[in-house]
Amino acid sequence: MEPVKIAENVYWVGAIDWEVREFHGSTYHIPRGTTYNAYLILDEKPTLIDTVRDSFAGEMLERIGKIIDPKDIHYIISNHTEPDHSGSLPAMLNINPKAKVICSGKGKEGLSKYYSDKWDFQVVKTGDTLNLGKRNLKFIEAPMLHWPDSMFTYAVEDQILFPNDAFGEHLASSQRFADEIDPAILEEELKKYYANILYPLSRLIPKKIEELAPLGVTPKIIAPSHGAIWRKDLDKLIQFYLKWSGGWAEEKVVVLYETIWDSTKKMAKAIAEGVASAGVPVFVSKISETPLSDLIKEIVFSKGFILGSSTVNNDLLAGVVPLLEELKGLKPRARVGAAFGSYGWAGGATKAIEEQLTLSGMQIVMPAQTVRFAPSESELAACFEFGKQFAGKVKGSS
Ligand code: FEO
Repeated sequence: MEPVKIAENVYWVGAIDWEVREFHGSTYHIPRGTTYNAYLILDEKPTLIDTVRDSFAGEMLERIGKIIDPKDIHYIISNHTEPDHSGSLPAMLNINPKAKVICSGKGKEGLSKYYSDKWDFQVVKTGDTLNLGKRNLKFIEAPMLHWPDSMFTYAVEDQILFPNDAFGEHLASSQRFADEIDPAILEEELKKYYANILYPLSRLIPKKIEELAPLGVTPKIIAPSHGAIWRKDLDKLIQFYLKWSGGWAEEKVVVLYETIWDSTKKMAKAIAEGVASAGVPVFVSKISETPLSDLIKEIVFSKGFILGSSTVNNDLLAGVVPLLEELKGLKPRARVGAAFGSYGWAGGATKAIEEQLTLSGMQIVMPAQTVRFAPSESELAACFEFGKQFAGKVKGSS
């Protein structure tokens, strides 16, 4: 693919990773792949904004080479140290050792340890500017969005914001612009990315958005480092972030379970039918049948969560533990929860679930629904009623 012009003398020169399916270890399943977006600005001092994962260095250099000799790049802006964006810095600096690397203070610390402390670094802070010739760049530190080193770069005259990981999504596509991509797919991937990368940092997001205009940052284009570039409907993207960071959730219930001999599964189905009978949409899955990152997206954007597990050794099944660990970090706000599960000779799973959901900040709104051995017809009817009543609690929750 050729470089893609996004504005006069500004080009996308990144890489498309069609095949990657796991991100951040194996915690984030990305069935649609991703892109690593790097941008080239042509001016008296040609400038590269971010690079790509190391295995795509050749692809990036080839794209740059179709516009200028990579040896002529004067500045390389590193908005974020994580290797999906910094991984090709060594390849760039090997070709062009005189290039100056612009980054935050924490960025310098990270890049020095990852790669080399011999590079020509220039540390920038919020409000600092850099003249490239006819245009200027302005920097905005964005610590914890999503690493301490993260920063945004703003091309002042072009009104392009390069916010690195913020406003991105994992979506490999031959289209570079958001307005060229199916809006439903784009929103789904944006939400999933927000839930898995940014949700725990939500309180920082409205403040960072508010900080931009007083700094003179009024973008007409938002060019993140993953996925689509926004040149239209920027308000829609900003509103998504304000809504999600404000704790928005759908009036919907997520029913998840792990089971040994399908008794808890039968309970889950009956509970889900009860929820649906009250007119509340429901998502139901065995935990191990759906990637954890998809479950996280469902949970953080739904008002109600019902979690079930069979009991083994007076405790819940091991398959439930990774999800509960994730939830403790995410702390979904103002959500209502409940537990259910079958047991044989002794219970214990539902008590453990209630304790763990409470630690995640959920309010347990109903006593747990339990069944010994296999559910009878009357017990399944009770599960249905349990789901129906829980739906009522969700309707009444803020
Ligand atoms: Fe935090 Fe896309 O790396």
